[in-house]
Amino acid sequence: MKCIVAVDNNWAIGLNNKTLVSIPADMRFFKSETTNKVVIMGKNTLESFPAGMPLKNRTNIVITHKENYKVPGAIIVHSIEEALDMVKDYDTDDVYVIGGAKIYEQMLKYCDVVHVTKIDFEYNADTYFPNLDNMPEWHIECDSEEQTYYDLEYRFLKYVKK
Ligand SMILES: NC(=O)c1ccc[n+]([C@@H]2O[C@H](COP(=O)([O-])OP(=O)(O)OC[C@H]3O[C@@H](n4cnc5c(N)ncnc54)[C@H](OP(=O)(O)O)[C@@H]3O)[C@@H](O)[C@H]2O)c1
Repeated sequence: MKCIVAVDNNWAIGLNNKTLVSIPADMRFFKSETTNKVVIMGKNTLESFPAGMPLKNRTNIVITHKENYKVPGAIIVHSIEEALDMVKDYDTDDVYVIGGAKIYEQMLKYCDVVHVTKIDFEYNADTYFPNLDNMPEWHIECDSEEQTYYDLEYRFLKYVKK
């Protein structure tokens, strides 16, 4: 299982249930990684999408405590364990944890790869990804060339669990 996330220099990921910035090449990368795969997310992340609708061409699994929560085109589960059970028959490489902070925090331990888009900026933020650089079990396996979007610099990193 993999995580995919865009973080700033402080590993911040969001503010007021929105992402910090939208970089077209990063959105393309996210789409190319996850299309035709399984994505697992928390209810807040689903509700941050346009019209609160699931992502197209992906199996969307949404985690909430709310028993009667229903969204067309999404599989609703009520615990991390239920989400893990739902994906047990899929190839683990085809399952992506896509956020947000609460879900990353609980599911990172089940992942062996994290795709990090690292944006060289410090935003105001209220949600964070765990800092993998402080976790000795994670190391950077691939580091892209520096990318630019207007005056923003960022890179695509692939962290792998040792
Ligand atoms: N930069 C990125 O790559 C990226 C990616 C994704 C999201 N984000 C950002 O992250 C922020 C959202 O993160 P978040 O932490 O607020 O929300 P979240 O992780 O998307 O969703 C949290 C919700 O999931 C449910 N949940 C969490 N753990 C659960 C469990 N063990 N059992 C049952 N339900 C559980 C709860 O829903 P109920 O309250 O309904 O029970 C909880 O309120 C937004 O700003 C978003 O834009 C950034």
